[in-house]
Order: sequence, then C-alpha cells, then structure tokens
Amino acid sequence: MSAPPLAVVILAAGKGTRMRSSLPKVLHPLAGVPMIRRVVNTALTLTDAVTVVTAPDADAVRESLSDSGVTFAVQEQQRGTGDALAAALTALPASARQVLVLCGDVPLLGNDTLKRLRAATPEEALGLVTARFPDPKGLGRILRDGEGCITAIVEERDATPAERRIDEINAGIYLLPAQRLGDWLGQLSSDNAQGEYYLTDVVRFAVEASLPVTAVTCEDLAEVAGINDRAQLVRLERLYQQRVAERLLAAGVTVMDPDRIDIRGELEAGEDTIIDVGCVFEGAVTLGRGVRIGAHCVIEHATIDDGAVIAPFTHIHGAHIGCDARIGPFARLREGTDIGAGARIGNFVETKKTRLGAGSKANHLAYLGDATLGSGCNVGAGTITCNYDGVDKHPTRMGDEVFVGSNSTLVAPLELADRAYVAAGSTITSRVPADSLGVGRARQRNIDGWKRPAKPKQTD
Ligand code: UD1
Ligand code: CA
Repeated sequence: MSAPPLAVVILAAGKGTRMRSSLPKVLHPLAGVPMIRRVVNTALTLTDAVTVVTAPDADAVRESLSDSGVTFAVQEQQRGTGDALAAALTALPASARQVLVLCGDVPLLGNDTLKRLRAATPEEALGLVTARFPDPKGLGRILRDGEGCITAIVEERDATPAERRIDEINAGIYLLPAQRLGDWLGQLSSDNAQGEYYLTDVVRFAVEASLPVTAVTCEDLAEVAGINDRAQLVRLERLYQQRVAERLLAAGVTVMDPDRIDIRGELEAGEDTIIDVGCVFEGAVTLGRGVRIGAHCVIEHATIDDGAVIAPFTHIHGAHIGCDARIGPFARLREGTDIGAGARIGNFVETKKTRLGAGSKANHLAYLGDATLGSGCNVGAGTITCNYDGVDKHPTRMGDEVFVGSNSTLVAPLELADRAYVAAGSTITSRVPADSLGVGRARQRNIDGWKRPAKPKQTD
C-alpha cells in the first residue's frame, strides 16, 4: 500500500535568541547552506506540499527560500511550537492525510529516517522520532509506561528530577493525522513552565484518544541535533566536516587532517588526490586524479584536472585548470579563468576572464584580465593588461609563443601575434606583428661626469 498523501510543515518562527544574532537563526549556514534550506531540501524529497512557518518580520527567511516553491505561513506571535503549527493549518492542502512536522533548526535530519517514520506510522497514528542522548539537557523527554508505550513528552523545565534522568529525547519531528490536528491544537494550553503552547502535548491527546503512538529511534545523533546556539552549530559543523572527510578518504583521496578541512558545497575528487590542511571548498568543485592542493587554499566553483598542483595560499573562484598545470603559491584565479594543460601561474599573479594556452607561463606578479594567450607564451614579472579604460573592458590577445618582458604595460584592446616579443618595461598600445620585437619605452641615455646632489656644508 502506498503511503497516505503527505504535507510537511517546517517550524521556523522561533526567535532564536540564544544565537545572539541579527541574522534569523535558521539562516545560519551549516557547511555553507542555511539550516532552513537543508530542511526544505529534505522535505521536498517527500512531497511538494511544504509550508514554512515564519515570524512576521522574517522577510530574509522568506526571500532566501523564494525559489524553492514552498508556501509560507506567518505565526504572529512566538507562543510556542503548538501555536506555530496552528498558524500553518489553513495553508495545508485538503488532500493531506498526514502532516509531517520538521524543525528549521534540526538541519541534518536525513530522509531515510523520515521514510522509516512514515513506514512505522499508520494514517491514524501519531509518529515520533526519538534518540538516546548521553547529555539530554534542555530537551523534551519521552515518558513510557510499564509496557514501554509512549504516554507523553515532558519538557526539561516541567520535568521532575526523576524524569530528567530519562535519556530518551524528543527530536521535535512528528507525523500527525491531519484530520485530528485542528481539534488537538485547539485544546493546547500554555499552563507550563515556559507559558507556551507546546506541540508536544498532542502526544497526550493521542494517548487519551487511544490512538497508537509509534516512535522510530535515530541512532545517528547528528541527524537529530537541534541548533539553539553558536556552540552547538560549530560542533555540528565539525562533525559534518569530519564525515565528509572520511568519505573522501574512503574514496582514495588523502585529506591530510580530517579536522582541518571545510567543504561548503559539493566536492568530487579522484583517486590519489592529496588535500593539505586548512583548505576551504565552496560550491561545486571537481578535482581530477592525482591533484595536489597545498595548505590553506580557498577553492570555489572550480574544476581542476588530473595531476594539477595548487601550491599553498591560492584563491581560485570560477576557474578551470588543465592537467598538470601548476598554480601558486599566492595566486588569485578569478571567474572565467581557463588554464591550459601544463601551464604555470606563479606567486602574486591575478587572472580574470583569461585563457592561458598549454604550457604558457606567468610566473610572478602580474595581472591578466580579459586576455587570451596561445600556447607556450611567457609573461614576465610585473606585466599588466590594462583592460579597463574607466568605462569599458577590452581584450588582449596573444598568439603562440609570445614573450612579454618584465614590467610591461599592455594597453587593451591589443594583439600580440605569434612569437611577438615585447621588450621589458614597454608600454604597448598597438599590435605587435608576428616574429617582431615591440619596444615601447624611452631610449636610455647616460650623462657623463654626473655630480650627485650633496648636502651644503654646515657653517657656524
Ligand atoms: C523543542 C521541543 C522539545 C524537543 C526539541 C528538539 C517543544 C515544546 N519542545 O524544544 O521537546 O526536544 O524541540 O529540538 O516543542 N518555533 C516556532 N514558533 C514558536 C516557537 C518555536 O516556529 O513560537 C520553532 C523554532 O523556530 C524551532 C522549533 O519550533 O525551529 C523548535 O523550537 P525551540 O524553541 O527551539 O524548541 P526547543 O526548546 O528546542
Ligand atoms: Ca530547538
């Protein structure tokens, strides 16, 4: 039998005061992705009917999800989790038979656990996700009777000392029968330690109505970890990063220290690739086989082919790097950079919208913007493409085996044809033909017998 039609409600209107932040709690990122986005993505694997409950002033949350297709409900006042779900009731599709409640601050809950919850919860029953926490402080505890049946959830602040010793906790994830919800939420009272309408009270109502209450236990505590403050967020971040590092290790990639890597996106890497300590990867990054990434590189939205070597302290954003190329240390490769096979970009070289053909080199201290270089070119230290006239950007084109002497100023638009040679220190403003030398500087003259300036003699 297929599962009954489902709607998901994500509670995300809480104040998040414990974050001490002007950014709404659920927008704080975990591994580069806002927590709420992770929860929404998981929800969308189950159904298209996803409603996010936000506070009235949470425009930033709604904007950050505007492309996701979810609907929003507004909870006027933050009066507790039960009140938050009540705010979403009118937004639910009439066809929904079950309502899955997720929390915007439980970012790593996996859809396998949710599938288990659905499989374990008949349409008329109330389903919960629980876990055993060595330190359950601050969380709602699961109360069970002598037969092991769940009877209620009690919040830490309302619990007796004996109840506080219970280590089975409520993860804040519920699968509820849709047609009971209006009735149950209408019965909630705020007569508790926090003066809030607790969603957890619906468990008691289900028990009173003799409905089955089922629970699935989640063994992976990271999945059910709720984030209330920054310490919890960074601890969960480290745990997540270690797991990503372990997966890379298992796939044949050496991560020199799994405690010192940050992958804030999707990193794919081939076998025998080595990643030294302190590197940050953002967005989609693909590394081929046998790539070496030196310490403290930041690599965003990039593809790096087999055998390329990225030396330490290099920043790459939006670039493709060909096989066996060598980059850095201290290089900055910006958007639209395409480095050919075996090419070389050395220290303090910046590139933007620039193609280097195979084997071309810019070994030190240069800026190459809007430039296309053929193969086997050599760009000397201190060379600058003057690509911007204050209004427009202009291209520089070099053929193959062009040699640009040190400290040259290449005023674009400009073409240096095959095997053109530019004398060091030149300012080049017009085309240099193939096999020609371009010299664009004043001729040196020497003045014989030149007297150095001298300080006038002191007289007293
Ligand atoms: C809640 C549960 C607790 C459980 C824990 C798991 C209740 C009463 N307690 O406690 O049993 O162990 O989650 O993480 O439900 N929210 C709103 N509007 C509100 C209040 C909260 O939308 O008025 C949202 C928050 O944004 C958050 C979620 O509901 O995403 C949980 O709220 P929070 O205040 O963090 O509850 P906990 O104290 O963690
Ligand atoms: Ca919480």
